[in-house]
Amino acid sequence: MTAANENLLSTPVADGAVCAPEVLMPPWVGADPFEGYGPGASMGDTIPVGSPRQGAIPDEYRNASAEELDARIEAAKATLGDRVVVLGHYYQRDEIVKHADFLGDSFQLARAAKTKPEAEAIVFCGVHFMAETADILSNPEQAVILPNLGAGCSMADMADEASVEACWAQLTNLFGTDVDGEGRQPVIPVTYMNSSAALKAFCGRNGGIVCTSSNAKAVLEWAFERGQRVLFFPDQHLGRNTAKAMGISPDDMPLWNPAKPLGGNEEQALRDSRVILWHGFCSVHRRFNVGQIEQARAEHPDVQVIVHPECPMPVVDAADAAGSTDLIRRVIEAAPAGAVFAVGTEVTMVQRMAEQHPDKTIFCLDPVVCPCSTMYRIHPGYLAWVLERLVAGEVVNQISVDRDIARDATVALERMLAAVPA
Ligand code: 13P
Ligand code: SF4
Repeated sequence: MTAANENLLSTPVADGAVCAPEVLMPPWVGADPFEGYGPGASMGDTIPVGSPRQGAIPDEYRNASAEELDARIEAAKATLGDRVVVLGHYYQRDEIVKHADFLGDSFQLARAAKTKPEAEAIVFCGVHFMAETADILSNPEQAVILPNLGAGCSMADMADEASVEACWAQLTNLFGTDVDGEGRQPVIPVTYMNSSAALKAFCGRNGGIVCTSSNAKAVLEWAFERGQRVLFFPDQHLGRNTAKAMGISPDDMPLWNPAKPLGGNEEQALRDSRVILWHGFCSVHRRFNVGQIEQARAEHPDVQVIVHPECPMPVVDAADAAGSTDLIRRVIEAAPAGAVFAVGTEVTMVQRMAEQHPDKTIFCLDPVVCPCSTMYRIHPGYLAWVLERLVAGEVVNQISVDRDIARDATVALERMLAAVPA
């Protein structure tokens, strides 16, 4: 069986219910491989001009069977030994996860990037912003490699540096720069980890901080100690859900549309605000809705619904629990045999947990199989290619953040690393 054919079967699909059949194919099937972010949940999102494109890799990888790729990855890793460390996000395919030296959520992987300073290369099986973060935090001599340069994140691309700078200029014009009686600056910028290194640097330069889904509450507390309000980008849902759980009313969280003056808001609404939310979202998590929760409860009276905080607020409100990918994993692992979970996060991770816990019933809230199409682009063919090039002494697909950007981004990332997840 070729890798292309095998891959079609790697994600179980009930009744053929998949958001787009192409999403289950290897990344080199189809046109070059896809024009935008590709089929799947983020298919409708615009890919920015100038985003890295992945060139074709040799046919020997594209035509290899799954077994051959597996053996070649193992052999290359054995040859490289401590010279390489492979990091994998929970949303990666099983065929990649099995080769990861560290598996984790984005916070854990940011930490992991600092733990093997002696390795020459960090191969990051995740998406572009995660590899950038690893490059910033790791030893300067280490090369960070993203196996497929087409693995971006459509949410991260919803906030570009020029639009955020333009927003900041308008807010500075409105609020000035003076601190209040408690020493708090008018606005603290907070960027979600899912953003470019340039935006992390922007936060570092402007008294701000980075957060992940696992420490967003601790980060907002940090920000409110230092600021009267927060500008949160790019994910409106994580910002809204986290602030609401801290007791802030959604009425005090205006949405900033970068295409409109003052983000489409009245001055007074911005003055009264506690959190200004950027108009960004994750297309994968936006698919979840309250109707799916009602259906899960009707079909499984004992079900516990657990969702990622990138889901819209009504979904998080209706769920029994919400948290990062690692929190979801821990809750399910700790549950007794017989527990039933409907999970609102990326389907590849949900299906893996279902296989790992056959004594529990675990299913994705969305009945349509829709993986994150960019995470899915890290196919074993690409992993085998980058590792074998390393064995041959060549670094391909290196992610290198500009020095000045990295210096400022480090300030915001180190503040984040100090904010321990709940
Ligand atoms: P975590 O921070 O929970 O790993 O989530 C990252 C992500 O991209 C979720 O869509
Ligand atoms: Fe980005 Fe959403 Fe994919 Fe996470 S699941 S990497 S936020 S597109």
